[in-house]
Amino acid sequence: MPNPITVEVPLGDRAYQALVGPGLIDTVGRTLKPLHLRQRCAVITDSTVGPLYGERILNSLRETGHDPALLVVPAGEPSKSITVAESLCRQMIQQGCDRHAFVVALGGGVIGDLAGFVAGIFYRGVPYVQIPTTIVSQVDSSVGGKTGVNAQEGKNLIGVFHQPRLVLADTDTLKSLPEREFREGFAEVIKHAAIRDAEMIPLIEAVLHDRETGLPELMARNIAIKSKVVVEDERETSGVRALLNFGHTIGHAIEAAAGYGQFLHGEAISLGLIAAARLSCQLTGLAESQRDTIIRLLENFRLPTELPETISDEAILDYLARDKKFEEGQIRFVLLRELGDSFVSSDVTMSHIRDAIGSLRIPNASQDHLT
Ligand code: NAD
Ligand code: GLY
Repeated sequence: MPNPITVEVPLGDRAYQALVGPGLIDTVGRTLKPLHLRQRCAVITDSTVGPLYGERILNSLRETGHDPALLVVPAGEPSKSITVAESLCRQMIQQGCDRHAFVVALGGGVIGDLAGFVAGIFYRGVPYVQIPTTIVSQVDSSVGGKTGVNAQEGKNLIGVFHQPRLVLADTDTLKSLPEREFREGFAEVIKHAAIRDAEMIPLIEAVLHDRETGLPELMARNIAIKSKVVVEDERETSGVRALLNFGHTIGHAIEAAAGYGQFLHGEAISLGLIAAARLSCQLTGLAESQRDTIIRLLENFRLPTELPETISDEAILDYLARDKKFEEGQIRFVLLRELGDSFVSSDVTMSHIRDAIGSLRIPNASQDHLT
C-alpha cells in the first residue's frame, strides 16, 4: 500500500490531519494510536456502508486494543434527525460508553454530520474520527467541523461546530459508490476549482480516464482547499467560508423546488454553478471561455446543464426567498472574477437571479447573446 497523502488542518489546539489514499480503513486502529484515545468507542454507520466496511473497521480497532460498538442507522437523509441523534446517544450509554469514549463516523456526509453531532453533544463533547466514503464527504463535509441534523423547518438547522481528531479518506471505498452518486460529487469538486484552484482542472479531467491513480491526489487537493478556507474562517464569520456556497443559492432552491429526490444534491448544484457562472460573466466580467470550461466539466461528468420544464420558476423563487443566505433582505451571492478567484457580492438582484434561472431553460449552444 502506498503511503497516504497527508493534509494538515492547522487549527491551533484543534489541529488535525486528513490522510488520503487507498486501503486506509484497514489501518484505522494503528493510525489512531498517536491520538491516545481510550478503548471504548462507537462506530456509527448506515445500513449500506455498515455491511460493506463495518467489519473491517471493527477488526482494525480491536487489533490495537479498542473496544468498538457498531451502531447502524438507515441509509439516507431522514436519519439526520434529532430523534436519531438522541437514540444513538442512548444506545451509547446503554452499551457502556461514557465521557472517555470516542466516536468513529463511517459513511457519507449524512453519517459524518450526524455522528459528528452526536460526538459534539455526548457527555458535552467527546472526540471523533471521520472515515468519509463518498466524494462529497471526502472533499467537503468531513473537514471543517460543521456537524448537525435537520429540523422539519429546514436542513442543518440544529448543530454544533466540533472538529474531528482525524480524517481518514480511503479512496478505495469510492469504488462501491453507485455511478450516479460518484458523478454527482464532482459538482463540489468543480466548485472548489472555480472558487479557489483553477489549476486543479487537469486533475479533474484525468479522473474521467483513470480513477485508480487520479483520485487520491484529487481528493487530497480538494481537502487542502477546504482546509485553507476553514482555517481562514472556522466559524463562518469573516465571509471566506461563505465562498463554499458558490452555486448553492440557486442550486439549493432548484433541489427543493424539484422536491427532494428528483435531483441528487450535486445534480441541482450543477445547475446552480452554471447560473452563477453566467451571472459572473454578466456582472464581473468572467471570461465566457472560463464559464464554458465550468459547463464542459459538468457535462463531462454527465451532470445536468438544463432545467426541466416540470420545475417552475415560481417554485424556485419561492424557495430562494426563504434562503438563510439572504441576510436582512440583502442577497449575498458568490461570484467569480475569474476561475479560481471568487468573492461575495451584494450587487445581485432578484431580477438578475430570475434571468439566470431563465437561462437554464435554453440549451447551452444558444446562450452567447445573453452575456
Ligand atoms: P449520503 O451520506 O446520504 O450518502 C449517499 C448514499 O451513498 C447513501 O445511501 C449511503 O449509504 C451511500 N454510500 C455512502 N458511501 C458509500 C460507498 N462507499 N459505497 C456505496 N454506497 C455508499 O450523502 P453524501 O452526499 O455523502 O452527503 C450528503 C450530506 O452531507 C447532506 O446531509 C449534506 O447536508 C451534508 N453535507 C455537510 C457538509 C458539512 O460541511 N458538514 C458539507 C456538504 C454536505
Ligand atoms: N460545506 C460548507 C462548509 O463547510 O462551510
